[in-house]
Parts: sequence; structure tokens; C-alpha cells
Amino acid sequence: MSTSVSICLNPECLKPENPDGTKFCLSCGTNLASQLRERYRVISLLGSGGFGRTFLAEDTGMPSARRCVIKQLKPIGNNSQIYQLVQERFQREAAVLEELGEESSSIPSLYDYFTNAGQFYLVQQWIDGETLTQKVKKQGNLSEADCWNILMNILEVLDYVHSKGIIHRDIKPDNIILCRKDSKPVLIDFGAVKETMGTMVTSQGVPTSSIVIGTPGYMASEQAVGKAVRSSDLYSLGLTVIYALTGKIPQELPLDDDTGDYIWHQYAQNVSSNLTAILDKAIQLYPRDRYSKAKDMLNELQSGKSTPPVNVPLKTSRGNYTQLRDLLAAKKWQEADRETAQVMLKVAGVESRGFLNRSDCENFPGDDLSIINQLWLEYSNGRFGLSVQKQIWIDKCGGKRDYETDCKLGDRVGWRSGGSWKSYNQLDFSLNAPPGHLPLAGFGVAGGLNGWFGVGSLLWRQELPKN
Ligand SMILES: Nc1ncnc2c1ncn2[C@@H]1O[C@H](COP(=O)(O)OP(=O)(O)O)[C@@H](O)[C@H]1O
Ligand SMILES: [Mg+2]
Ligand SMILES: [Zn+2]
Repeated sequence: MSTSVSICLNPECLKPENPDGTKFCLSCGTNLASQLRERYRVISLLGSGGFGRTFLAEDTGMPSARRCVIKQLKPIGNNSQIYQLVQERFQREAAVLEELGEESSSIPSLYDYFTNAGQFYLVQQWIDGETLTQKVKKQGNLSEADCWNILMNILEVLDYVHSKGIIHRDIKPDNIILCRKDSKPVLIDFGAVKETMGTMVTSQGVPTSSIVIGTPGYMASEQAVGKAVRSSDLYSLGLTVIYALTGKIPQELPLDDDTGDYIWHQYAQNVSSNLTAILDKAIQLYPRDRYSKAKDMLNELQSGKSTPPVNVPLKTSRGNYTQLRDLLAAKKWQEADRETAQVMLKVAGVESRGFLNRSDCENFPGDDLSIINQLWLEYSNGRFGLSVQKQIWIDKCGGKRDYETDCKLGDRVGWRSGGSWKSYNQLDFSLNAPPGHLPLAGFGVAGGLNGWFGVGSLLWRQELPKN
């Protein structure tokens, strides 16, 4: 990465690196200033493939000069009739990408699009994180809980994308980025734009796409012959998650001689039989043997048929913690916090009041308290939970049940800043938050810190272990 060069984007250019400030490429004469609307400055190359290249860039048109990702795409056909067709399709695809990015937080936003010198450009939100491939290479195979997070989030996006009649067609570990901030997976690299670049015209004058989109190994057999269906994406997702669990790409997995099925169970340690069964169903050779819809696969994951990776009971005589578990497994911290509030009010029998008072806390059923705490602890890897707060309350704040101690705790766990309490929407609903930052719900409930009664009323409870 260097700030002292201007990159020439002409794919044929022999010497694309020019001294910073150069107006016309010293090698091929391309106008460097205007190639990216005089606005985006390329920082580095992120990848290159058959259809073009992907760059990390800086948007000098924004006050923050925020980072963005620029995809440069090159049509294969090269006569003017084809160019016209590609242009029209590109326009439509960009509109679709704009809508998808706006509707889903698991798809990068489209910031801009344009054509220049016969090349097509998409400018997208840069996701700070690592691809699934990078993550597994660096940290080794992922846990079942991490894979749940990926599956639940990606299935939710796919359900939405499919409802728009779009099939992604290139789901694989390189095309899922795990966001650094909250570990949420983001789906990149939709196939349709690439397909557009392959537009050709048959000898009868009918436009068609000359290319198959997809990646060998991750691509289902029907897609390989140009007939992708919704469950083709589920097939690819299944093999992607198997990669995350085993570190093996499809080409490295042996096949069963009789059935042709992938053999992978032996490489995945400690994976529940339920997740195994769900993945096995997703990667069936024929679409009719798979889940036909993302929603079906999601439902199966969420239903009682699959046990959670964490061994905590999800029901008591008063409370049902299935929803909380699902939200935590999906790392939806804010929704999980709200769900915690709701279920606590319900268990305490004070839904209509909308907050817990001191005696509600002192009498809150111990089993329920313990389950809530364990779920938060497990899914945040020990970062969040009432017992985390308890430990800070006792060790760092003196453990008294008074307002002054509440304030000390609030300062430590990030509920306060500059001497005053934050409002609910100022809190940090990510794993970057200070230890003990969540859950908050149990203390104020429904609307944050209103109805304050003293954190100690809950934290002194014996059901919460001290560490
Ligand atoms: N929005 C993005 N944010 C961060 N990195 C990205 C983004 N889009 C692409 N990348 C990185 O660039 C690589 C290539 O981009 P991609 O869109 O997958 O194109 P292709 O696979 O055709 O080369 C990705 O694997 C990823 O590492
Ligand atoms: Mg890609
Ligand atoms: Zn050049």
C-alpha cells in the first residue's frame, strides 16, 4: 500500500504505477485524473479474476475520504451492439445492487457506478474484516457456534435475495466477509453483473450469456450447466460452512464410492448431529433432495430439531429462552438485549409496568436468572453477562448496593461517559464494547435506563457466579 503512486486502470497497461500527481499515464497515455470521476483514489489491488479487478480505494469526494471498494468489469464481447446491450444490463444490475445493499445490512451498499473507456465500474461500501478463507487460514477451523452465526445470517439474506428473484450463484468462503466489529457475515460478489459482462449475440442475433458463473467445487451440478435455482445457493452455502468446520475445500473431500456423497464428518470435530444432518441435506446432488428455500433451512436450524451448541436449558416453567438463544447465536446483540428485557418482564409478571423494581429483582426466579446469564456468557465468549458485571461490581467498585456504586459500575462497563448516563441508543451493541456492557435490559428495561432501581438488586444474587 502506497500513497505516492497513481494507478493506471487500463487493463492492457504495461506499467500502471505512475508518480503521484501524473495527469496522463506515462506508459499508455490514459487520463489518470478522469478515470475514476476525478474522485476515487486507488490504494491497492484486492483481487483479479476473469471479469475484472477489485480495488481498495479512497473516496476523496467525502469529508472523511472514506474507504470504498471499486470493481472494474470488462465485457467479453467487443462490438458496439454488444456494448449497448451490456450497458443496458449493467444499468439494471446496478439498480438491483443498490436496492439489495439498502435493504440488507449483510450486503455492501452501492455508492456509485459509471462507465469509462469501455470499462464498467461499481463503487461499494468497504467492509472492514476478513473473508472466511482468510479467517480459517489464520485461526483454524471455526466452532459450531461461529458456523451458526454464519448460517443464520446468510440464510436470512438469501431468503430476502431469493424473494427478489435473484440467485447469488457464487457463494464460497472468498465471498463472505466477517465484519471485524461484530463478526457479522457480509455477502459480496453477486453473479449477475459478471454474467452481464459475458453477453454475446448468437448467429441468429439473440443475446445470451456465454459464460457460466460459479466456482468449481462450490457450484451445484445444475448450475454448472447454466440452470441455477434457489437451492443451488444453499448447496454452495453448505459446502462453504463445511469448509469453515473442516478447513477443507470441496476438492479435498473424498467422495463415497457408492453414493457420490461428500465424506466430511470425520474431519469436523464435535459438531452436533443436527447441524451435520442439515448440512448433509443442503449438499445433496439433486435439488429435489435439498431444502428448496432458504427459509426452510433456517426454520430447521431454529426449530427444536437442532439442539443448540450450548448446553443450557431453554425452557423453565415461566420463561422460554429459544428466541434469546437464536438472537445471541446470530450475534444480534441489540435484539438479544431487547429480548432479554422482554422475557425478564414476562417471567417477573410485570410486562404491563415495563420495568423491574427492586423487589422484582430480589425475587426473580434463580433458574431463569442463571439461564439468561449463561446464554450471554457462552455466545459472547465471556464478554457479556450478568456475572461479568457482578465481578466488576465486586472487584472494582466495592460491591455496595447504592447509587454511587452503580455509577462506578456504569463508568467501568460503558453505560456512562463524562459523568452522566448514556441513552440506550448511545450504547455499543458489538463485541468491541467493554466487558460487561451487555445485557443492559434487565436493569432498566424497555427504553434503556429509565426506571433505575439499583444494579446491585440483581447482581448480589447467589445464582450469579462471581467469575
Ligand atoms: N465490499 C468489500 N469490502 C471489503 N473487501 C472486499 C469487498 N468486496 C471485495 N472485497 C475483497 O476483494 C476480493 C475480490 O472481490 P470480489 O468482489 O469477490 O471479486 P472477484 O472474486 O471477482 O475477484 C474479495 O475476496 C475480498 O477479499
Ligand atoms: Mg469473489
Ligand atoms: Zn497506463
